[in-house]
Amino acid sequence: MDMKQKIAERIAQCAAKCYEGCALTCADVMQMIEIPPDKKMGDYALPCFRLSKTMRKAPQMIAASLAEKLCCPEIERAEVVGGYLNFFLKRSSMAEVIVEAVLAKPGRWGGSDVGAGKTVCLDYSSINIAKRFHIGHLSTTMIGHSLKRIYDFNGYKTVGINHLGDWGSQFGKMVAAYKLWGNREEVEKGGVQAMVDLYVKFHAEAEKDPSLDDLGRAWFKKIEDGDEEAMEIFSWFKAVTLKDTQRVYDLLGVEFDSYNGEAFYNDKMDPVVEELQQKGLLVESQGAKVVMLDEYNMPPALVLRSDGATLYITRDLAAAFYRHNEYNFDKCLYIVAYQQNLHFKQLFKILDLMGHEWHKGMEHVSFGMVSYEGRALSTREGYVVYLEDLLNKAIEKAREIIEEKSPNLPNKDEVARQVGVGAVVYFDLHNERIKDIDFRWERALSFEGETGPYVQYTHARCCSVLRKAEAYKDAKPNYDVLCDDEAMDVLMLISRFPEVVRKAMDANEPSLITRHTTSLAQAYNKYYFEHRIMEESDPAGTAARVNLTDAVRDVIKTGLYLIGVEAPERM
Ligand code: ARG
Repeated sequence: MDMKQKIAERIAQCAAKCYEGCALTCADVMQMIEIPPDKKMGDYALPCFRLSKTMRKAPQMIAASLAEKLCCPEIERAEVVGGYLNFFLKRSSMAEVIVEAVLAKPGRWGGSDVGAGKTVCLDYSSINIAKRFHIGHLSTTMIGHSLKRIYDFNGYKTVGINHLGDWGSQFGKMVAAYKLWGNREEVEKGGVQAMVDLYVKFHAEAEKDPSLDDLGRAWFKKIEDGDEEAMEIFSWFKAVTLKDTQRVYDLLGVEFDSYNGEAFYNDKMDPVVEELQQKGLLVESQGAKVVMLDEYNMPPALVLRSDGATLYITRDLAAAFYRHNEYNFDKCLYIVAYQQNLHFKQLFKILDLMGHEWHKGMEHVSFGMVSYEGRALSTREGYVVYLEDLLNKAIEKAREIIEEKSPNLPNKDEVARQVGVGAVVYFDLHNERIKDIDFRWERALSFEGETGPYVQYTHARCCSVLRKAEAYKDAKPNYDVLCDDEAMDVLMLISRFPEVVRKAMDANEPSLITRHTTSLAQAYNKYYFEHRIMEESDPAGTAARVNLTDAVRDVIKTGLYLIGVEAPERM
């Protein structure tokens, strides 16, 4: 039971009774309800100022008449203060309702079926072939993964797409370099790094010998023409890259439903270009074909080069049509860094100009940059941090901490992986996505403050309480013991969780869940330190506190799951 939702329903019903013809909906009231800054003022408050226009009464009077008529089991009393109607919830009944509701459907609290029958495509991670996965790719991967889980949790069908960057003239150079200096075993062994080394060498040598560039172009032409040898090498590059990256995906627990990338659209662009032409949207510019967008304050979008070559945006146009036809999506999200803002604005605008209404379901979910220990990453300056190295280091550090804090823990390796990776992922999804992130070890791995390990530890604490509470399993809980302020804080946070999940989905903002789950962990720890959970003399009270703990455990686990973080039961 989401308390706020319940109260909103009651108010809407009551308003309809007090004011004939009043069209106040439950959703309106949901929007208006506030949480007072001080609990002494109430658990929820309804500001009545906005209502005074439509109801033609002073806000105080509206509040007073609502207070008089509002009578429901959830509310202990309502007070009128100024134009506010402040509510005090009936704590014991609230505790029972909320805790029992969570425990009735384990792992489902906060989920819904609002997305039933609808499909969301999520384009995330979308790595480039023959480039190493560095920490700049963490956000797209984890925001996308988290959003996929959030939409799933709300009943949507989701399609996770890794739109591989597997097309471009650089691959001609790579094949050329491989033919000149490469050898199969070295690349098999060295993986992506060996390919990167070849590419770097190619550029260094081409400085001295410009004919190499022609060779690169010739190989790219062969790839374009589907030459057998060129294709064999290129496909193998792809396989090596995916195999290397898979190790990171496995660590992160990330999966995809499709790896259709740029090359997949090679034979799917003609109809798009034709349609653009037909609709009079293509303009010649120095032999190239562009879509003019100056009316919309954007530079022209280059769709065909003068030599007929297609571009990134041409492929994205074809991909949009393909996804529309194949999945009939309601939403198509692109989780890509804000550097590509213009690209997506152009893409959506072009589809709009083509008259395809479905472009309205497309959205660019952008995010900020990651720096590392206070310094911007730069491939040119050689300051790069590879994701796999980062994760392995995190696991190692977590392992050291576990060794120190709980040397007797069984399956230390497994827990170290969960905590190390969880710390990194949590760190990435803690701030509003549009903000830049500065990754710091000290903060990511701390067991205190707003960190992954802290929340995971709270979850493990709940599990530990439950293991010890077996003896109280059959006692009938007396929820009157959950009337103190600390329990109330915990209950309110649980109660608000479904609303937070919805907001996170509507705003494509996983950090809302990260933060709310953290607040819940903090509130529970406060409760835990100020109250004895197990009291032999009071089995009924104990059973209620144990159930509260169980509900907290369940919601924290779900919160972590939704941001892609595992929840070990012992730490
Ligand atoms: N591979 C691209 C990059 O690394 C991201 C692709 C994003 N997805 C898309 N459909 N354009 O910049």
